[in-house]
Amino acid sequence: ERRVLSGIQPTGGLHLGNLLGAILRWVRMQDEAECLFFLADLHSLSDFVDPATRLANIREMAAALIASGIDPAKSTLFAQSAVPAHSELCWILNGTARMGWLNRMTQWKDKAGKNRETASVALFDYPVLQAADILLYRATHVPVGEDQKQHIELTRDIAIKFNTDYQTDLFIAPEPFIGGGTAARVMSLRDGTAKMSKSDPSDMSRINLTDENEIIVQKVRKARTDPAPLPDDPALLADRPEARNLVGIYAAITGESSEAVLARFAGQGFGTFKPALADALIALIAPLRQRLCELRRDPAELDRILADGATRAAAIGTPVLDRAKAAVGLTL
Ligand code: TYM
Repeated sequence: ERRVLSGIQPTGGLHLGNLLGAILRWVRMQDEAECLFFLADLHSLSDFVDPATRLANIREMAAALIASGIDPAKSTLFAQSAVPAHSELCWILNGTARMGWLNRMTQWKDKAGKNRETASVALFDYPVLQAADILLYRATHVPVGEDQKQHIELTRDIAIKFNTDYQTDLFIAPEPFIGGGTAARVMSLRDGTAKMSKSDPSDMSRINLTDENEIIVQKVRKARTDPAPLPDDPALLADRPEARNLVGIYAAITGESSEAVLARFAGQGFGTFKPALADALIALIAPLRQRLCELRRDPAELDRILADGATRAAAIGTPVLDRAKAAVGLTL
């Protein structure tokens, strides 16, 4: 049996990297397997945000996921903090995870940088909570972008060590399920060597689900490129990261290979390619943006959906937590 689980931090809105690397793949998996998707609001505590903003961000991300095609009738959609078993299992797994394993996480190294002394403990422990998210539901497949692969591998290590230490088969070592093709790592529009991310201070570096059509056109027009025309072979884009990224985005949206895209645009410059890319982006984003606007009008309905999702998630996760507690001798 397959069980799919994935999460997203509710910090700001969705961007194209989230959409292509994760969310649109979640949408497709809904018809193929049992799916649980959640807002990683406990993970968001690793950075300080005022409470009103945090709450608004959680609702906004729930609406964005539904607007993108996550169907609460097919998938269990919920907020992590509404299912206490995530936090409880995290603490149990803190006894299994090793400092050295967490010290090697590239996200920790990148985000804490030289400021390890002032980074929150939550930022360091972040991957253990992520492991709890996954192991709590005995998920088999975790669809994520390339940047989360190391965290899923850590989850496998934690599952295997726990099962070995406590002589149990409770936890399932999950597979990272990373998209093939060009969507697994969407890069910044301003720098083809940096990933597109919510934390980039320049909004011109990313396409947001909320961007109006004119903004999309403008962001694509201003996207960094080089003066050479497009080649006919993707291998020739190897040392042209910005050009490779734009072709990759186009291919991911239309579902083509980079070869197929280049077969059409070979010999042309970005003066021709960029408007075609903007059109493809608008065709993808505009309908989702409109649905998002409608969903925002009914926050009570969103809260109802999330409450229902939390009940369903807890029904699956709580018995697994109970087994974990029993496995370590916490049955009083
Ligand atoms: P987060 O919120 O940073 O991102 C959500 C999803 O979007 C993918 N993604 C990208 N994919 C391609 N190109 C990009 N530029 C890009 N940027 C983001 C991410 O890989 C991710 O799949 N730690 C997770 C949330 C999480 C989670 C979990 C995921 C918490 N618990 C359990 C899976 C299972 C995170 O911060 O994702």
